[in-house]
Amino acid sequence: MIDQVRELFETTYWVEPTVIARAPGRIEFVGNHTDYNGGDVLGVAGEMEIAIAARVRDDRIVRGMTQGGQAAFECSLDDLGNRPDESSWSRYPLGVLWAIEEHGLKLEHGIDLAVVSNVPSGAGMSSSAALELATAHAVLEGVNHELSRKDIVRICRYAENNYVGVPCGILDQGVSGFGKKDQLVFIDCKTETFSNVPIPHGTHFWIFNTDIAHSLIDSLYSERFSECGDGFKVAKSLHPNLECLVDYPLAELDSLAEHLGSKPFKRVKHILEENQRVKDVVKLLNASDVDLHACGSLLFDSHASSRDLFENSTDELDFLVAELSNFKEVYGARLTGGGFGGAVMAWTSSAFSPPDAESISSRYQEQFGHPTRILHCESGDGAEVVWKA
Ligand code: GLA
Repeated sequence: MIDQVRELFETTYWVEPTVIARAPGRIEFVGNHTDYNGGDVLGVAGEMEIAIAARVRDDRIVRGMTQGGQAAFECSLDDLGNRPDESSWSRYPLGVLWAIEEHGLKLEHGIDLAVVSNVPSGAGMSSSAALELATAHAVLEGVNHELSRKDIVRICRYAENNYVGVPCGILDQGVSGFGKKDQLVFIDCKTETFSNVPIPHGTHFWIFNTDIAHSLIDSLYSERFSECGDGFKVAKSLHPNLECLVDYPLAELDSLAEHLGSKPFKRVKHILEENQRVKDVVKLLNASDVDLHACGSLLFDSHASSRDLFENSTDELDFLVAELSNFKEVYGARLTGGGFGGAVMAWTSSAFSPPDAESISSRYQEQFGHPTRILHCESGDGAEVVWKA
């Protein structure tokens, strides 16, 4: 990948890069929509990654090129305020440059970027966060400016929220930034603290990508975001000291029902119970003898809650989870990421095999008329600079 991105840079710009950085895509292990409610979440950085080769220029031009045949872009640092339209991938790297400046570092010079990726896009693995993190590491190293990992993660989320315009939480950028091979990333999203929890030895991650995204996926995500905000207002009217929705005591959940309509109550119930599930999973994973089935059954519960209470699943995702639940080698499975399409994550023993995965895909094809894309995914390290001239 490093050689590939260097070559793309050199054949595009006819000069050598001065820095190469990489960042992984992520799998959401458990904690669905808990992040922007101040809750906890567990994710894992995948081995799939985006690599960026870069070289700071003498003028204020920014150029970007990918290997995937997507349109190259060129603009000036002075025009970062004119946001590219939604179809352009340039809004991610440009958003990061903009956010770096918003955080007080004035960029004197533009930069040339070449991007190579093997993170499947639209697979719920957040290739966008990987692109943001790889850009931030390449640019900051390119201009010799050191920031903490946490600051870089926050800048990238800021870009996504305020430049790209998605009101996401910190999960995607946090996991891409703090990933570690053989470790899950635990994020306390309220305090923005990051730590790692070992992945039980011999367990595996599989992604079943439906390749289907609801046409209103972004607006549905925003709708859930504001429904949670409305739920928080009501919860706070009962407990004025609450700082975020997950601070509402789970034991008093039922008493919220009379103050909320049935739909908002379902959303809040999902968030509070899901947050508790994350804590329970962490406790199980930290035990000396991990009860894999108990852990996995919380993942199945998480899916059921997304399906029934948060209502961000689809028939395709439900079908895959139901199929996976028939395999004793599958500890748990659930939709991963924002929902309304995208992918299911399965957590399995090493006995779960490619033919098992294929058999699910063919039943899926019989049902829905197209196959799923299957990915057996190892864990990997978080974003970093991998080479400097
Ligand atoms: C998307 C968002 C995350 C998180 C998940 C749902 O991946 O980018 O911030 O909210 O959905 O848990």
